[in-house]
Amino acid sequence: MTTNPDSGPDLRPRPTEGSVAGTTVLVTGSDGFIGSHTVERLVADGARVKAFCLYNSNGSLGWLDQSEVFAQALRDGQAEVVLGDIRDPEHVAASIEGVDVVLHLAALIAIPFSYVAPRSYVETNVIGTLNVLEAVRRHGTPRLVNTSTSEVYGTPEEVPITEHHPLRGQSPYSATKISADKLCESYALSFETPVVTLRPFNTFGPRQSARAVIPTVLSQLLAGADQVRLGDLTPKRDFTYVTDTADGFVRAALCDVAPGTTIQLGTGRTVSIGEVVELCRTVTGSTAEIVTEEARIRPEGSEVQILLSDPTRAHEVLGWAPTVSLEEGLARTAEWLRPRVDPETAARYHR
Ligand SMILES: NC(=O)c1ccc[n+]([C@@H]2O[C@H](COP(=O)([O-])OP(=O)(O)OC[C@H]3O[C@@H](n4cnc5c(N)ncnc54)[C@H](O)[C@@H]3O)[C@@H](O)[C@H]2O)c1
Repeated sequence: MTTNPDSGPDLRPRPTEGSVAGTTVLVTGSDGFIGSHTVERLVADGARVKAFCLYNSNGSLGWLDQSEVFAQALRDGQAEVVLGDIRDPEHVAASIEGVDVVLHLAALIAIPFSYVAPRSYVETNVIGTLNVLEAVRRHGTPRLVNTSTSEVYGTPEEVPITEHHPLRGQSPYSATKISADKLCESYALSFETPVVTLRPFNTFGPRQSARAVIPTVLSQLLAGADQVRLGDLTPKRDFTYVTDTADGFVRAALCDVAPGTTIQLGTGRTVSIGEVVELCRTVTGSTAEIVTEEARIRPEGSEVQILLSDPTRAHEVLGWAPTVSLEEGLARTAEWLRPRVDPETAARYHR
């Protein structure tokens, strides 16, 4: 069954109960794609934000360096930066002391790179999450939101996927996210750690890494390519626009649920990569030809063929529903990318 939010049951977002205004929220992965949008949303809602960014010797704050909202929050004393590494337990614990909410988004996320460097995924995604859980337990932090992914289901046995669907590690990335989710479940059951696992399906929008499918397609089209190089066009995905995903994080920070609850974030609509490419051609006005490139095809047993969320729990528990359609989100992403596209790098395969 496919539930289209444009024509299906009435799943409009409801006002959030309570507010993050005045609370201190630490966001790991603040420097990343979803993290930077979530930080901006928290600032807009009046939270005090501790932006945990991966330490580097350039002092780069990733995407937050380009956020005027964040720059203003720093000047106003509404935000502060913590440079660190999620793999360092003492530093993570020191950073989390005294905060009201931890939104844990830091992770290594590229599936193809997890084929060649799986240990780094275990260290960041599993040990990193363990460090956060231990810190939250030690300090009695009132709420932790763990970030899962729809990739934990593998190719599903049935769609739409509910939170009860079995988990299958179809890539090293997925296996590490399953491990992190299970650690969170175990801390909820063993120690009543107030953790909620939020499980986004594919998210897209401005600032997404060029290795993800939508930025890959849009950048090649906007660079004026005659041919677009892609992997398999048949897999289907359920795409959520990034500001809707950030809205889900804020709602998860506030919701009243039993420790260990998992909540999916997806629209309930699935489209094939081929259909996404067609929509991208429409929003950019391009007529480029699609070329399948062998290096971009994933190992057969590892490619997840379809992801489609049943959004019922997100609606019932969080009052969440997507507000930006795929078509509108693609148009916004193309507008953001247009002045930033480099024709040299647009066609390069980025694991
Ligand atoms: N993008 C999606 O479609 C999607 C879908 C489902 C779930 N997720 C999850 O959402 C979260 C954010 O993903 P994203 O798409 O914003 O990716 P991203 O790569 O832009 O963000 C991940 C962030 O983690 C940080 N990080 C990595 N290693 C670290 C370390 N050792 N210490 C501290 N920080 C470290 C990176 O600097 C980066 O800012 C991840 O947990 C990912 O698994 C993403």
